[in-house]
Amino acid sequence: MGNTSTENVIYDRPDSFGWVSILVHWVTTIVIITLWFIGRSITEQDSLEAIDARRSLHVTIALSAWLALLFRIVWRLRQGHPRATGQTMFIHRVARTVHYVMLVVIAAMMTSGPAVAFVDNQVISGFALKIHATSASILFALVLIHLGGTLKHIIFHEDDTIVRIFWPKKK
Ligand code: HEM
Ligand code: HEM
Repeated sequence: MGNTSTENVIYDRPDSFGWVSILVHWVTTIVIITLWFIGRSITEQDSLEAIDARRSLHVTIALSAWLALLFRIVWRLRQGHPRATGQTMFIHRVARTVHYVMLVVIAAMMTSGPAVAFVDNQVISGFALKIHATSASILFALVLIHLGGTLKHIIFHEDDTIVRIFWPKKK
């Protein structure tokens, strides 16, 4: 952390993301989108067996990715958030807030999901499912806002905001 060596492309720096953040952003993006679609399709199945199979698939992928998702949240908290370059402080704060709220909602999904799957008490698991389903919708809305921010950069700004989530900045 905080390594300002010119060779450092592993950790984040005050104005750029390193390889760890970049890899973890894209791996968990693919996982979350997959979980979202499988999750929403569970109750669309027409037999109880198909519903169970779909639910098991969702839970298996979710548990396999659980540590990676946790790592992502801990990593962001430990690294801090790089400053948006070429943007006002206000825009930087809006983007950073959306990023942090997304991480909080992901944490809510990671805790409510296992409660739905493994708690026997119907009242508790029913309540957990409400939290899980609501968090899923909130996450969907936040990702749309996030993509709106991305589009804004592609269309209106010629800065490195998009590039820096694909490739670390070399100094
Ligand atoms: C960020 C990660 C996750 C996402 C995006 C996600 C997404 C979803 C979505 C969209 C649903 C459908 C909710 C509805 O409208 O009824 C769902 C249901 C469910 N999820 Fe997740 N989920 C995640 C993590 C987890 C985890 C970690 C577990 C637990 C191991 C889990 C277990 C379940 C279960 C058991 C259901 C209920 C299926 C049913 O209707 O019976 N999920 N999830
Ligand atoms: C499930 C989907 C997604 C989630 C939950 C998500 C979440 C995040 C988070 C939390 C950050 C802050 C850095 C970090 O901690 O990783 C970030 C950065 C970023 N994301 Fe995503 N992301 C998603 C999908 C996408 C997609 C599809 C794109 C667009 C092509 C994208 C473009 C970016 C960009 C450009 C940044 C860097 C912003 C900056 O420089 O401050 N993200 N994303």
